[in-house]
Amino acid sequence: MSPGEGANADRIPLIAANWKMHLTASEAEDWAGRFIPLLRDRAEALDRRVEVAIAPAHPLLDRLGRALRGSRVHLAAQNLHPEPEGAFTGEVSLAMLEDLACDFVLIGHSERRQLFGEDDAFIAAKARRLEASRVRAILCIGETLDEREADRTLAVVDRQLAAVLDATGAGFAGGLVVAYEPVWAIGTGRTATPEIAQTVHASIRRTLVDRLGDRGHGVRILYGGSVKPSNVEELLSQPDVDGALVGGASLDPHSFAEIALACLEMP
Ligand code: 13P
Repeated sequence: MSPGEGANADRIPLIAANWKMHLTASEAEDWAGRFIPLLRDRAEALDRRVEVAIAPAHPLLDRLGRALRGSRVHLAAQNLHPEPEGAFTGEVSLAMLEDLACDFVLIGHSERRQLFGEDDAFIAAKARRLEASRVRAILCIGETLDEREADRTLAVVDRQLAAVLDATGAGFAGGLVVAYEPVWAIGTGRTATPEIAQTVHASIRRTLVDRLGDRGHGVRILYGGSVKPSNVEELLSQPDVDGALVGGASLDPHSFAEIALACLEMP
């Protein structure tokens, strides 16, 4: 299948913010107070043409959720533990995220893999926990610079994706969002070229379609890694780039709004 073949016009782009370990709850409230008016006059178009989600640190979820109420902006979490509850000091359960009305949760972010030792099996266990939940996974996958230079990019992202698909069934795949985040492009100012992004996204799409049949065409594949207002349009113009996962540029409500509104300018 050629890149983009079978591209699904029904894939509404998702623009998601990952605030990582930034901002306090009061700063988050202030951020929402400045962000929501920037979208307001485009709210109807936004509903049909783009979905927006914010993933703050866990202690901010409650207050940010209240501040976003009625805005159509989704609340997302940055992490969850695979076990339903128990003696896991410092961890957060799915029930806690459900109670806070989270719509999405990031799993497999490269910072969790690299800095906190999370492996494919642990990430697959988190995915299994999400199978019967309305909280949808944003599964992050991506290669390091060494892996790219060793020409292992497609093998690495395929392995990371397969680990989760092998462990889960149709219920999980129905709500799945994949985020391709090359580790060498995160927080470095180095963005993958649109061509690099499309090549990897097309390979991810092939794997999704091989594994899930036609439903694979419906899975959104986001790009992440130094996305900013100046490069988002060319990334989104690629047929298999269905949105963005934005770190640094999402901390400023104006630049994040510009990124979200860029979806409205796309043909
Ligand atoms: P930056 O946009 O800061 O490169 O971060 C990307 C990222 O890791 C989002 O999850």
